[in-house]
Amino acid sequence: MKFFIDTANLDEIREAYALGVLDGVTTNPSLMAKEGITGQKNIIAHYKAICDIVDDNVSAEVISTDYDGMIKEAMELVKISDKIVVKIPMIKDGVKAIKHLSSKGIRTNCTLIFSAGQALLAAKAGASYVSPFIGRLDDISFDGLQLIEQIVEIYDNYGFETEVLAASVRHTMHLIQCAEIGSDVVTCPLKVITALLNHPLTDSGLATFLADHAKGNK
Ligand code: E4P
Repeated sequence: MKFFIDTANLDEIREAYALGVLDGVTTNPSLMAKEGITGQKNIIAHYKAICDIVDDNVSAEVISTDYDGMIKEAMELVKISDKIVVKIPMIKDGVKAIKHLSSKGIRTNCTLIFSAGQALLAAKAGASYVSPFIGRLDDISFDGLQLIEQIVEIYDNYGFETEVLAASVRHTMHLIQCAEIGSDVVTCPLKVITALLNHPLTDSGLATFLADHAKGNK
């Protein structure tokens, strides 16, 4: 399973990359705004900075909602680096844009997926990734993990190459259950990745080993 970090914060991306387990980065306009990155020039420079840190898979989202605008933006974004994956919203023109971009060999991540039907459309259009937002579904009392299960089953049935990228992942149980289901990728905040390190028995076990070593070496 690939691990992506869901942030535009460069320090967090560096920290996750340094851990040695990071496969990519997802951003969205809200995450860019949270870092105070505004204006096209700065946004492009920020994507470049992210691409300089990681090895591949940097999702950069278009702002346009019409076909021509999305294609124009996508062509600008892919000029930044071959690590860029163009993030396109699940709307009618978005599906057309994904079809066009995939026919040109440009990788896409279809975002704002909330149903199996949307995931099926995105896969048929040739999306490289689909991003079902599981936390936001849970927020409205809908089982986000059930959607991941459905999409994984549908893609397996037909051998779609589109990868399931579980997004809006809020905690370690989301991540672990996505792994059990067979989601290809999860994207989550740094704190969810680092929380995987924690177990009280690891802490107490290590403390005992170190104390015993110290006693034996007195
Ligand atoms: C996906 O790529 C989105 O950036 C993201 O996971 C949204 O998560 P949120 O619901 O925590 O905003």
